[in-house]
Amino acid sequence: MEFLDLSIIVLALIFLRLWWRYWSTTGGGPKNLPPGPPGWPLVGNLIQIILQRQHFIFIVRGLRKRYGPIFSMQMGQRTMVIVTDSRLIHEALVQRGPTFASRPPDSPIRLVFSVGKRAINSAEYGPLWRTLRKNFVTEVITPTRVKQCGWIRKWAIENHMKRIESDAMETGVVEVMSNCRLTICSILICLCFGAKISEQRIKEIESILKDVMLITSPQLPDFLPVLTPLFHRQMKKAKALRKKQLECLVPLIKARRAFVEKGENPNQEMVSPLGAAYIDSLFGLEPDKTRGPLGEEEYVTLCSEVISAGTDTSATTVEWAMLHLVMNQDIQDKLYHEIVECVGKNGDIKEEDVEKMAYLESVVKETFRRHPPSHFLLSHAAIKDTELGGYTIPEGVHVEFYTAWITEDPDIWSDPG
Ligand code: HEM
Repeated sequence: MEFLDLSIIVLALIFLRLWWRYWSTTGGGPKNLPPGPPGWPLVGNLIQIILQRQHFIFIVRGLRKRYGPIFSMQMGQRTMVIVTDSRLIHEALVQRGPTFASRPPDSPIRLVFSVGKRAINSAEYGPLWRTLRKNFVTEVITPTRVKQCGWIRKWAIENHMKRIESDAMETGVVEVMSNCRLTICSILICLCFGAKISEQRIKEIESILKDVMLITSPQLPDFLPVLTPLFHRQMKKAKALRKKQLECLVPLIKARRAFVEKGENPNQEMVSPLGAAYIDSLFGLEPDKTRGPLGEEEYVTLCSEVISAGTDTSATTVEWAMLHLVMNQDIQDKLYHEIVECVGKNGDIKEEDVEKMAYLESVVKETFRRHPPSHFLLSHAAIKDTELGGYTIPEGVHVEFYTAWITEDPDIWSDPG
């Protein structure tokens, strides 16, 4: 071996040692990050994770066993801290909520749909996030608001029952998921735009939002931004989809605005009184002085996030509940008897009746425990360098809360199922 070759090898080894000590975030060193699997130069743990060909939650469960309740991973250029312990999750999200309330940077494709992070689920902690979140809570999910909108759920459930009865009569089969998605989506569209629209338009909105969810799910350039130019076709597809989303929802927004400002309602689709739709509260809202008032792009993003957030989560939960009721006839019988006792064999179930059904509540809670619709929260970020569980959490890194572990932790549940 020549002297030059030897020098290159020695220099490479020194570089690797330095990289390991100072830049590999999971390799120990002075940063005091939570422990984690050692990664490779540049790609960190990314290739190891891909090669494992396992769902991410199984990888997380394995790493949890090895590294404890809080650990870190280096996924390409993205540093991730994974928190799985109920006490640490409680400390971060409840006791020190504002510190962990921010969101990490978005991928270029997600930025297309969030209009540069102007959505509740992607806004960084600050005046914009506070205003949008407070507005959503007061306008959509306070108990008073939820009660006021009971008529929307009643209308949607009546349609749901008619649809599944006719499906059963015509084909002998009832598709749980697609019917639930359609019903929930119709409720959320009415909550957002104050409009009752045709089933065909609801299906169109639902399908576009599903495509948005798929295209914004994590891809290779999110971890290795250097690869972004290779994925330009994906970005083109995302922009075309955004255009389709705008074309589909902007007419509804314009129709609502005409109803709110001029009382126009040509085809009688605007059914919620003035001020009762989520969009009414967004008209004229100026959540951050620097970027000016919200416009049609933001209205589309903010309403879409509510419809998307509520549809899949609720429909998946109902589907799991139905599966368990089919597989556990004794539980189904007990539930049926509780319902019959409350409203009779052919009675309509009103929302006040549901509040009296203790066993139904247990079935719902157990379904959420066994099958939480999402295993992780959305990615969080700390607003400044901070500490959790004795480790440093640098500002802006992806903090992932594995909340599903709380409901299956054998240290908490004697028989997690
Ligand atoms: C089974 C039902 C549901 C479950 C399990 C669920 C779960 C979640 C979770 C885990 C998050 C992430 C929280 C975080 O990262 O801190 C979230 C956020 C959100 N959800 Fe839901 N959700 C459900 C239904 C709904 C419904 C019906 C709506 C709309 C009416 C909704 C609107 C939202 C919004 C707007 C956000 C973003 C909030 C933020 O970033 O602070 N969700 N949801």
